[in-house]
Amino acid sequence: MLSHLALLGALALPAALAQSELLTNVTIFTPPANYTVPRTLYARTVLLNQDCETDNVLLATWENYLPNNDSNPYTPIYQSLDLGETWSERSRVYDQANGWGLRYQPFLYEMPQAVGNYSAGTVLLAVNSIPDDLSETQIDIYASTDKGYTWSFVSHVAHGGEALPDNGLTPVWEPFLMIYENQLVCYYSDQRDPLQGQKLVHQTSTNLLNWTAPVNDVAYSNYTFRPGMTTVSQLPLGNWIMTYEFYGAPEAAFAVYYRIANSPLEFNNSIGHPIIATDGTVPISSPYNVWTPVGGPLGTIVVSCGTLSEVFVNHNLGAPGAWTKVPTPEGISYSRSLRVMPDESRILITGGGQLGGESNSVTTSEFDITPVGAKLASCEKSASGYGRKARL
Ligand SMILES: *[C@@H]1O[C@H](CO)[C@@H](O)[C@H](O)[C@H]1NC(C)=O
Ligand SMILES: *[C@@H]1O[C@H](CO)[C@@H](O)[C@H](O)[C@H]1NC(C)=O
Ligand SMILES: *[C@@H]1O[C@H](CO)[C@@H](O)[C@H](O)[C@H]1NC(C)=O
Ligand SMILES: *[C@@H]1O[C@H](CO)[C@@H](O)[C@H](O)[C@H]1NC(C)=O
Ligand SMILES: *[C@@H]1O[C@H](CO)[C@@H](O)[C@H](O)[C@H]1NC(C)=O
Ligand SMILES: *[C@@H]1O[C@H](CO)[C@@H](O)[C@H](O)[C@H]1NC(C)=O
Ligand SMILES: *[C@@H]1O[C@H](CO)[C@@H](O)[C@H](O)[C@H]1NC(C)=O
Repeated sequence: MLSHLALLGALALPAALAQSELLTNVTIFTPPANYTVPRTLYARTVLLNQDCETDNVLLATWENYLPNNDSNPYTPIYQSLDLGETWSERSRVYDQANGWGLRYQPFLYEMPQAVGNYSAGTVLLAVNSIPDDLSETQIDIYASTDKGYTWSFVSHVAHGGEALPDNGLTPVWEPFLMIYENQLVCYYSDQRDPLQGQKLVHQTSTNLLNWTAPVNDVAYSNYTFRPGMTTVSQLPLGNWIMTYEFYGAPEAAFAVYYRIANSPLEFNNSIGHPIIATDGTVPISSPYNVWTPVGGPLGTIVVSCGTLSEVFVNHNLGAPGAWTKVPTPEGISYSRSLRVMPDESRILITGGGQLGGESNSVTTSEFDITPVGAKLASCEKSASGYGRKARL
């Protein structure tokens, strides 16, 4: 009888989930030595979770600096079918609209609901298309209706000028996508307004084709201030958080700031706060935020930055003074990204290396918010394969 119960227990708590160790410095991609420095940068991931057959597939992408500044750079799409342990190429997204290449700042998103003619589960890529001479910037949307194997151009969102981060030039940068109230929202950094060196804006679309005019999210009256790099997460109790880097902050150049709002379309009515950890640390540059329901009754906000291995967590919906610095195994990278894994105590952190880095590669690691505990996903998993499907 006892052994029978023990067997049932073993089946009920799948071994793969309970025993798998946190990922540490897993290599997603090592660029060949002939890639142009910095070779890789700005890594992003998406965890597919809208269709049972592809649930828990991870896709990754990054800025990919081909040899000899190849004039038709593509956005690489890599896949992991084992929750980040091993990676292989899934597809390459080439420029289908401008003849320039897809060069900077790719972002992946799986649609949780239909918008326009695109069904739930469509995978979107937002990316900055830029010609070889860096003379223009164009944030474009591509869609994959087969989970990232093939891609089609969907629409242009925003066109800007020369792709250099100098005040007075007019580029657009760093798209971030999210669906809110049946619209796709595209957040990005915008240097086109003569009143601001750079500001943060968003545009929305109800069909992925036609976009509203830009609306400010963060725009300071001091022209030299440069807020940049929006990411947004939903919080419980009806609020939303955006993080951004803030050149012009009194704490430090590019200090990580955040705003809380009860609509993700109205961050401009909110006040920016610096993240200052309980030990006094101010994170600097290229933040990314996620929220996970574990870690306390209000869940946990997690924010990474571009100058420290550690991340910053807040168990109190972003209350100032409630940020603590916690270690991760992942090294420092410019613009790392975070992803809440199916076991929501585990956070995947992915980096593509540093600006100017001559030995950059794309790596990923995990850290945990609380001791690992099983949480069943919405789709049935076999006892041997919970969360770690061997095949598609
Ligand atoms: C770059 O190196 C890779 C791997 O060694 C090689 O396959 C490729 O042909 C090289 N490309 C160029 C343009 O030299
Ligand atoms: C690539 O472009 C950068 C920036 O324009 C330049 O500094 C570098 O020399 C170029 N590299 C090659 C291999 O052409
Ligand atoms: C959606 O598809 C239908 C049928 O093909 C077409 O008539 C309609 O114009 C499409 N709508 C959009 C917004 O693309
Ligand atoms: C919406 O976008 C489509 C595709 O680019 C275009 O054909 C159409 O004219 C646009 N509609 C409006 C109202 O701008
Ligand atoms: C704008 O900020 C800079 C510091 O970044 C400061 O030197 C300057 O005085 C500020 N200008 C105004 C009008 O406040
Ligand atoms: C925020 O943006 C909205 C929409 O553009 C605008 O109506 C409002 O006045 C702005 N608020 C602030 C404080 O800038
Ligand atoms: C992971 O990589 C980082 C950066 O290279 C390094 O600091 C760290 O020691 C590595 N961790 C392990 C466990 O190897």
